[in-house]
Amino acid sequence: ASEEVPSTNIVTLTSHVLSEGLRLGAAATGDLTLLLTAISFTSKFIATNVRKARLINLVGLAGDTNVQGEEQKKLDVLANDIMINSLRASGKTAVLVSEELEDAIFIEDQFKGKYCVVFDPLDGSSNIDAGVNIGTIFGVYRVRNESTGTVEDVLRAGHEMVAAGYIMYGSSANLVLTTGQGVNGYTLDAALGEYILTHPNIQIPPRGKIYSFNEGNSMYFHPPVNAYLKSIKYPSPPKTPYSARYIGSMVADVHRTLLYGGIFGYPNDKKSKSGKLRLLYEAFPMAFLTEQAGGIATTGTGRILDIVPTSIHQRCSVFLGSRDDVLDLIKFYKEVP
Ligand code: AHG
Ligand code: MN
Ligand code: MN
Ligand code: MN
Repeated sequence: ASEEVPSTNIVTLTSHVLSEGLRLGAAATGDLTLLLTAISFTSKFIATNVRKARLINLVGLAGDTNVQGEEQKKLDVLANDIMINSLRASGKTAVLVSEELEDAIFIEDQFKGKYCVVFDPLDGSSNIDAGVNIGTIFGVYRVRNESTGTVEDVLRAGHEMVAAGYIMYGSSANLVLTTGQGVNGYTLDAALGEYILTHPNIQIPPRGKIYSFNEGNSMYFHPPVNAYLKSIKYPSPPKTPYSARYIGSMVADVHRTLLYGGIFGYPNDKKSKSGKLRLLYEAFPMAFLTEQAGGIATTGTGRILDIVPTSIHQRCSVFLGSRDDVLDLIKFYKEVP
């Protein structure tokens, strides 16, 4: 039967990004392709360590605290080192910003390229020891004309990013990427060591049936958020209530939202005045992907991608997902005092 014959018409990440680059014409020099290849290599290296974590004593705390005041896990530190080394060695980067490092890294002339990469090396740290899905999130800016690579090159609105994506380490490793021409998903074929295009042109359903919030924070949430949550849990008939799904790894919660639709939220609240998620390497990349997939990403009162950061570890309120669901939420922000 035909289903027993393996497909020989396989598109890999590299060939796909190359062919997209060709469509960009003169603007594409192949440098972005090489940078994305470096990021995909990094993710394979991290993925294999995630798989072996329990066996080679990689679970548990590293013993340090990062600039966010969070305890670092061994895998946070390892993933950060892998990213920094491989991005520097790629020769394509000028500025690197990592969740795990207080200051930006400026690449020395010998290795300097024209891209800046902001990243969360290991997202979902609290899930590591339980073997639940975790990920890596990244965003890419091109250094501004004439710039030698300064912090100003990354303190720019999210809509200036040229590429963004994440890798989710789950039952398989999935890389989801945008270069501003839609969103594509690739799955790591461990035997080939290649990311294969498995989810071309991801589109978020215009409305979903799932909400994804840490509702344990309800007592701190602002009134519009609680009013919105009430509206989807106690809808007036014939509408039926939404399902709750919350993994606590942004990568996994956003991945599900892109594929199934619905709304993901991590609002600012009375306790976390600026929210929890970090603008540069969590909110911006996920907002870019969401918009490119046809969804909306907002703070509740404004477009996330229009925020201009003033510091590299700045936080922001995040709601993203299906267009109609996020529009409903925005209505509550307009109407509920
Ligand atoms: P990180 O593990 O990179 O520090 O990020 C954790 C973030 C994000 O992954 C997730 O959406 C959120 O924190 C979960 O926070 P709560 O545990 O407060 O729900
Ligand atoms: Mn962290
Ligand atoms: Mn994170
Ligand atoms: Mn992290």
